[in-house]
Amino acid sequence: MKKIAVLTSGGDAPGMNAAIRAVVRTAVSNKIEVIGFLRGYQGLIDNDFVHLSVRDVGNIIQSGGTMLKTSRCHDFMTTPGFKKAMNNLAKNKVDGLVVIGGDGSYKGADAISKAGVKAIAIPGTIDNDLHYTDFTLGFDTAVDTIVSLMNNIRDTANSHERLSVVEVMGATCGDIALYSGIACGAEIIIVPEVKMSVNQICEKLVKSQKERKRSSIIMLAEGAGKASELLKKIKGNTGIEGRELVVGHLQRGGSPSTIDRVYGTRFGNQAVNLLMEGKGGLALGVRCNKLISVPIIDALNTEKVFNMDLYKLNDIISI
Ligand code: F6P
Repeated sequence: MKKIAVLTSGGDAPGMNAAIRAVVRTAVSNKIEVIGFLRGYQGLIDNDFVHLSVRDVGNIIQSGGTMLKTSRCHDFMTTPGFKKAMNNLAKNKVDGLVVIGGDGSYKGADAISKAGVKAIAIPGTIDNDLHYTDFTLGFDTAVDTIVSLMNNIRDTANSHERLSVVEVMGATCGDIALYSGIACGAEIIIVPEVKMSVNQICEKLVKSQKERKRSSIIMLAEGAGKASELLKKIKGNTGIEGRELVVGHLQRGGSPSTIDRVYGTRFGNQAVNLLMEGKGGLALGVRCNKLISVPIIDALNTEKVFNMDLYKLNDIISI
């Protein structure tokens, strides 16, 4: 193994930089040259890359986002785009590739591996929607960010004795809403994995009010609906007014948590170790604090098991 490449793809996630840094520093300590393709698979198609030395990845472990930039590249999914990408890997004599991203990025890494260039995938997405791993890089930081924003929202909700509906990201996965809802004491958590009717939500709010609870927080996963629409329905059914907060991209950036920095570092290091062992087509993850690697295709096909115990726990403690 003489030369490897690294890229970040899909939505940026805190911890991606820690992973890039560990890839570069592990490779260079083993006398392997590293290049970084810019803007994910787009850079692979355009042959747009930078050489990465150990100093180039200094002072980035504390930064959110990705120093290599990122994109959601639809051209890569086309035959001409894919061919260009494979030609550029060959032209640059790249022996192995590390892809940091979410499920879409994993599909690309699997295709590249099957086409002959060994690729290792690192889970980088705030959504926590890769189910073979206990968590994905960026999830912990995103939840921390939401929880700290909620401390402010709570002050106002409490002072005005008001309902707040907070819409958080996660695509079709409810984990961000579940964990941030538990951590900030939300009265109701709404996720795509558990059906909850507007009537059920309204009954709960009315009951809370009867029990002298004057302010409430609903944590709503974006995959389960829109905050503005839910507020309209609640007002129509009960007369209860509220305010919405769509957290949006505020929750995706920011300095990574310790967990995201440490796992980013472990994933980056292990990705290079696996490539040096001649392995490819694998996705890295973590289970019970142990690093695991599984075929990328199995990682993509692992079914979600939603944490119902945690979800039910909130019903008990939010009375
Ligand atoms: O996949 C990460 C994510 O932040 C999702 O939670 C969200 O639905 C989506 O990306 C938003 O994408 P964009 O930044 O392209 O609007």
